[in-house]
Amino acid sequence: MIQSMNLKKISKFMIKKINISTKDKKYSIEIESYSIKKKLENIISKNNNVIFIIDKKVFKTFKTVRNYQSQKYITISCSEKIKSFQHFSKLCNNILNLGVDRKSILVAIGGGTLGDLAGFVASTVLRGIELVLVPTTLLSQVDSSIGGKNGINTNYGKNLVGTFYQPKQVIIDPSILSTLPKREFLSGYAEIVKHSIIKDKRFFIWLNKNAKNLFNFNLKIITYAIYKSILIKKEYVLKDEKEKLQNRNSRAILNFGHTFGHALETYYNYNRKLTHGEAISIGMIIASTISQKLNYLSYKDLNEIKNHFISNNLPISDPRMFDKKIFKIISKDKKVVGDKINFVILKNIGNAFLKQNISLKNIQKIIK
Ligand SMILES: NC(=O)c1ccc[n+]([C@@H]2O[C@H](COP(=O)([O-])OP(=O)(O)OC[C@H]3O[C@@H](n4cnc5c(N)ncnc54)[C@H](O)[C@@H]3O)[C@@H](O)[C@H]2O)c1
Ligand SMILES: [Zn+2]
Repeated sequence: MIQSMNLKKISKFMIKKINISTKDKKYSIEIESYSIKKKLENIISKNNNVIFIIDKKVFKTFKTVRNYQSQKYITISCSEKIKSFQHFSKLCNNILNLGVDRKSILVAIGGGTLGDLAGFVASTVLRGIELVLVPTTLLSQVDSSIGGKNGINTNYGKNLVGTFYQPKQVIIDPSILSTLPKREFLSGYAEIVKHSIIKDKRFFIWLNKNAKNLFNFNLKIITYAIYKSILIKKEYVLKDEKEKLQNRNSRAILNFGHTFGHALETYYNYNRKLTHGEAISIGMIIASTISQKLNYLSYKDLNEIKNHFISNNLPISDPRMFDKKIFKIISKDKKVVGDKINFVILKNIGNAFLKQNISLKNIQKIIK
């Protein structure tokens, strides 16, 4: 029922626009397949000084832009490694070398790692120049390009240096995902499912019915899933832009599944044995299991979540997930005070809340 109702609303070439209005910036997120060329040419025609930073994997798309050779551009091979002080400094110098002024616009075309690095650069070069994000992975389209967080990694942990800096525009072209490796696509899908689980049961049911079409690259279905996902993230970001709240509107709720997810990624040294999406999938199953053991979530809902993950190839376990070292890593998390942690718990599918001050020992006991 929900499936047919929503599909009717989806026009043949679905175009979606979401307006964002924060304290100091108003901008739009535009979702439209096959729109990159037109939109980049539009930016070039309206601005005198545009600098492009492009992920090498999507350079062939940039090459379709009229007179691309005469533009100022820098290409980068993207991975977690580029979120470093070294790459930050190199990129700042390259941009200064190309010639930049307060009216320049930085356009970042690539995955979440590029967006996080370029966002940090845009917010600091000349104390801030305009930023346009053109995310090209599913994860960056539904998550990292939304909300204004950026940053780089340090020896002390991931994303520990960065700023909050909203872009001037976000351009999402789902058709560019056609070249994305399956595993990366699934990694982004995990964040879409996360958004449905924390906030929108109807969306979760819709995903249950439409996930197969989404993985078969039905662009209308993909566009709708990206759109819904962004709307959910937007709600938390607008209520709590700088993650200061500790209530049901807290932006921290978006971290559902991420406590254990991040710990697993750290355990594996970010060597891509697990993608971010795979790690948080396992983290979401652990968080859902804890929610059930604490008598918030029903068995039925827990099983519904597990079944959805299994039938869409999202992992639900890892041999190391209960390793003592995982708890050691969690205890060093910047969000842990003493032995107490704030943990995102589920009441039902579509209804999560932030439970404060759960003791890590208690969590360890529950999981055993
Ligand atoms: N700022 C935030 O709010 C936020 C939120 C979530 C995640 N993140 C960050 O996002 C990063 C992960 O982003 P990601 O998953 O996009 O990783 P990524 O940027 O490393 O991209 C994954 C791989 O896909 C390639 N790629 C990009 N677009 C492609 C395309 N269209 N076709 C083929 N290959 C393509 C990249 O070159 C890379 O090899 C992490 O560093 C994470 O911390 C940030
Ligand atoms: Zn995530």
